[in-house]
Amino acid sequence: MDLLEAIRRRKTTNTPFSPEPVSNEHKRLLIEAATRAPSHFNSQPWRFLIIEDKEYINAMAGIAGDSMQQLMDEGAFVARYRRYFRFSAKEVTSSKSGIFIDNVPLIFKPLVKLVFSENVGNLLSKLGASRLLGRDQRKIVENAPMLLAIVLDKQEYKPGELSGLYASITLGAVIQTFWLVTTSLNMGMQFISTPLEVKENRARVENLLGIPDQYDLVAIFRMGYKNAEAPRNTIDWVSNQRKPMTDLVHYNQWGTAVPPALATARSLLWDDEHGTNTGN
Ligand SMILES: Cc1cc2nc3c(=O)[nH]c(=O)nc-3n(C[C@H](O)[C@H](O)[C@H](O)COP(=O)(O)O)c2cc1C
Repeated sequence: MDLLEAIRRRKTTNTPFSPEPVSNEHKRLLIEAATRAPSHFNSQPWRFLIIEDKEYINAMAGIAGDSMQQLMDEGAFVARYRRYFRFSAKEVTSSKSGIFIDNVPLIFKPLVKLVFSENVGNLLSKLGASRLLGRDQRKIVENAPMLLAIVLDKQEYKPGELSGLYASITLGAVIQTFWLVTTSLNMGMQFISTPLEVKENRARVENLLGIPDQYDLVAIFRMGYKNAEAPRNTIDWVSNQRKPMTDLVHYNQWGTAVPPALATARSLLWDDEHGTNTGN
């Protein structure tokens, strides 16, 4: 697949994958391509764990489900992330960011208004939404033929220090390569952040996977071949919108807009054939 096509098509896959295992050639390609990423002084501070054993995947799924439910029950997830939630196309168009929660079952519709209340955790818990989201999270992780965990060497990854920043930069380059290569292979990929957001559950995962003290677990993904027929989740979102270049870029000096010739240059990414960056 052409690089621009992969960039255009890359998106988070939060629906079930096809059950087919990821081929060894594809796994090897993913690791070899991702590790072509730049790193400070070619330090290569990342290590990877490919998880395919059903027992491990199910155990990870249980921890992910528990974490999601706990974060919802406590209201921590909503409190942390509500500023990114959009509930109408109008909000999406005006903010040009965030996730558009466009699929909400009728019984949970009243919750939309309550998302901004202090008491949201209790309400989510009482109405059963936390349990539902926890169950969806467990099922989606269980369904994956493969999980990928990424760790960083603590000698390099020292938050607050320059090497910590550099390790985060190279981690981003590695992850984006995984994302583009999976897209080119008709595979999908999804971040599974919840277990890393609950301290005890992060420890449970590190323990399960046997990660040595020298490494910090920094990211977990589910991966697999896409399934075009996969149903949407009970509560679901889309997030394809992006801010336009003119909102993001200053020219020569902060506060100066890009020149009109650049602002109106033909988009090679989004043109008549490929639509715009706001569609799905
Ligand atoms: C650090 C980080 C953590 C994320 N955690 C999750 C997650 O736990 N679950 C999920 O479905 N998506 C997660 N995402 C994906 C973002 O929600 C997604 O990239 C964003 O909404 C844009 O959508 P797109 O990837 O489809 O373009 C995460 C992304 C990043 C960079």
